[in-house]
Amino acid sequence: MKVNNSDQLIERINRLKQEKNAVILAHYYTRPEVQRVADFLGDSLALSVKAQKIDAEVILFAGVHFMAETAKVLCPHKKVLMPCPEAGCSLADSCRADEFEKFIAAHPGHKVVSYVNTTVEVKALTDVCCTSSNALKVVESIPASQPIIFGPDRHLGGYIKRLTGRDNMVLWNGCCHVHDKFAVERLREAKVKYPEAEVVVHPECRDVVVAEADYVGSTAGILDYCRKSPARQFIVMTESGILTEMQRLMPDKEFIPGPADALCDGACNTCEYMKMITLENIAECLENGSPEIHLDEQVRRKAERSILNMISIK
Ligand code: 13P
Ligand code: SF4
Repeated sequence: MKVNNSDQLIERINRLKQEKNAVILAHYYTRPEVQRVADFLGDSLALSVKAQKIDAEVILFAGVHFMAETAKVLCPHKKVLMPCPEAGCSLADSCRADEFEKFIAAHPGHKVVSYVNTTVEVKALTDVCCTSSNALKVVESIPASQPIIFGPDRHLGGYIKRLTGRDNMVLWNGCCHVHDKFAVERLREAKVKYPEAEVVVHPECRDVVVAEADYVGSTAGILDYCRKSPARQFIVMTESGILTEMQRLMPDKEFIPGPADALCDGACNTCEYMKMITLENIAECLENGSPEIHLDEQVRRKAERSILNMISIK
């Protein structure tokens, strides 16, 4: 019998989690109903750290493919399930490992820092990973005289370059199709319309958008900032899924979805890949124990080193 009611599906998922000794890790950008079945909801950094500490035999990753891969890299002996392997990431796709390898070869003597939004093969070519939460700390942990390759997000890389004043940082020319479309002219209009609102921006946005921010940070950083800020209204320049958790944690504050390119009819601030994870495919994935993430052990080990190098930076 096909179950299509959300509450019934949630009940089925909760039962399956117990039966299979599984936990669900979900990113803030997933659908609201998916966030309801998560045992842990977080940003890229928190999810990576959490994956390492999980006791359950099975991790189901509600997020995009590179996130599930990261969990598998860190937990090779666990079964890591990915309900929709087609849920990719335009940023990870903007950096193919074979091309990145050539880029590295063209810049001898550079340390390679890669944002976690990359494939496992790119992580294997990397010295130290970073997320939007810790990119500044990671770059600052490298001696100022040491040249760096930063990939794949040119906006995050540019932001870190401006903050540190490092001119020995070479940027890979990639970006996220969602954050790249937040529009500065429309943000300025929104600021006029909501003069009391603070502007919170993810560093994957363009520099002109970042320049308008009261706060720049990862999804977890943005949540934390909004909780502490006395402001009552916020214009949120990141993927719209985060609004669910913002509204849940701060029901007395108002969150205005950040305006993207007018040509997109309001849909640009949504990551279609994150929304590919549904209650239906989570339930099926738990039931069948697949699709599962499998990695080449040699590549996994190299990727693990770059992620552990990141986690060890305090
Ligand atoms: P964070 O989870 O680091 O905020 O990154 C956002 C993102 O784009 C994830 O795909
Ligand atoms: Fe990738 Fe952008 Fe979607 Fe994040 S929001 S998963 S960076 S495409």
